[in-house]
Amino acid sequence: MKPKLLYMFFLAMLLTIIVSGDQIIAQPEGFNYDEAQVPVYTLPELLQCTDGTLVTDARIWIKKRRPEILRLFTEQVYGKAPGKPKNMKFLVISTDKNALGGAATRKEVKVLFTGDPAGSNMTILLYIPNHKKGKVPAFVGLNFDGNQTICEDPGITITDQWVANDEELGITENRATEKTRGTAASRWPVQRIIERGYAVATIYYGDIDPDFDDGFKNGVHPLFYKPGQTTPAADEWGSIAAWAWGLSRAMDYLEKDKDIDKKHVAVLGHSRLGKTALWAGATDQRFAMVISNNSGCGGAAISRRQFGETVKRINTHFPHWFCDNFNAYNDNESALPVDQHMLIALVAPRPVYIASAENDLWADPRGEFLAAKFASPVYELLGAEKFSLQDMPGLNQPAIGTISYHIRTGKHDITLYDWERYMDAADRFFK
Ligand code: GCU
Repeated sequence: MKPKLLYMFFLAMLLTIIVSGDQIIAQPEGFNYDEAQVPVYTLPELLQCTDGTLVTDARIWIKKRRPEILRLFTEQVYGKAPGKPKNMKFLVISTDKNALGGAATRKEVKVLFTGDPAGSNMTILLYIPNHKKGKVPAFVGLNFDGNQTICEDPGITITDQWVANDEELGITENRATEKTRGTAASRWPVQRIIERGYAVATIYYGDIDPDFDDGFKNGVHPLFYKPGQTTPAADEWGSIAAWAWGLSRAMDYLEKDKDIDKKHVAVLGHSRLGKTALWAGATDQRFAMVISNNSGCGGAAISRRQFGETVKRINTHFPHWFCDNFNAYNDNESALPVDQHMLIALVAPRPVYIASAENDLWADPRGEFLAAKFASPVYELLGAEKFSLQDMPGLNQPAIGTISYHIRTGKHDITLYDWERYMDAADRFFK
């Protein structure tokens, strides 16, 4: 081999090691990533009620099976959540008609859960395109590190809630700093969303419940305790259900905003917030479209496959995410009265989009795909378009339909590629 060729060969080898190494590091060890090791499993019957009644038409689904599945997920997986608080108020705290160089109007709306300005609240950050006349469709989703992280816009209020410490961002006292502005901008292509004619709304998830296990002392849970209650009961809400509840409260606001087309609001989320978006879409049918980005275990992935993250691992690592009853299924997935395809089926006949990433084995891309596919019978029963795929598509080959699916190249993340596809789907159903 010529020296130059030899050099290129070694460089290629080195890159392969780095790339595959990255893949290994991204997936926690000691879990199954081998399709051949997936146990043989039987999914619960989607179209058969617990009492044996077969779901042969839309009426039986709507009247009997859907409420039954919703109840099973509520009591066994995510936990019961309260409704809309009686005295809740909205307070517009800022408006800028000339945001993003004049392309958008930015609003910040404080949702006062008890009506008390000094009490528990969350702040909705909303961008509305200026070039559109009349009401516009919108995307709404939670963010991980504060509203100020989604865009460089210096007008965004920095969250004053608890945030996770992060050396790189200079967060040491669990308080966000100026340095965090725009740090999640790659996950929120706000300019592009505006350009494509959509509004976008987001809320810091820690406003609703800070994401650590404190026995539910902070966040919204205590607002609803019965006298003497100090922690949610085994069938009551964990953090995911609380975050989903927050999304419904955002919907309460969006319904009232004169610029928003309330019939066309899509809820979306990445990862744990993708699990949250699915649960919000299942529990609140005002969301006209539901988008799960790399949601994995407890989101779109079939639990019984035990591929990547398992029920036991998620319950032990994140004991506050689900209701306590969900612990009964640790190492015991086959006892679950539901599996995650049934969660997607709860969205029917509304459009749903499930997205995976090639290197995100922890979230089980194939399990996410299968759940989308196995939800299809309910869509068909309700007269909606059936899922167009039999097998997993190639990389970056989106299948857009009432049930959409794609697996893109790359890692666990939400990217511009993902957003463009979600907007393609929304163009189809919202315009
Ligand atoms: C962890 C967790 C996943 C979750 C992810 C995230 O990896 O195990 O279930 O989806 O965090 O939210 O980023």
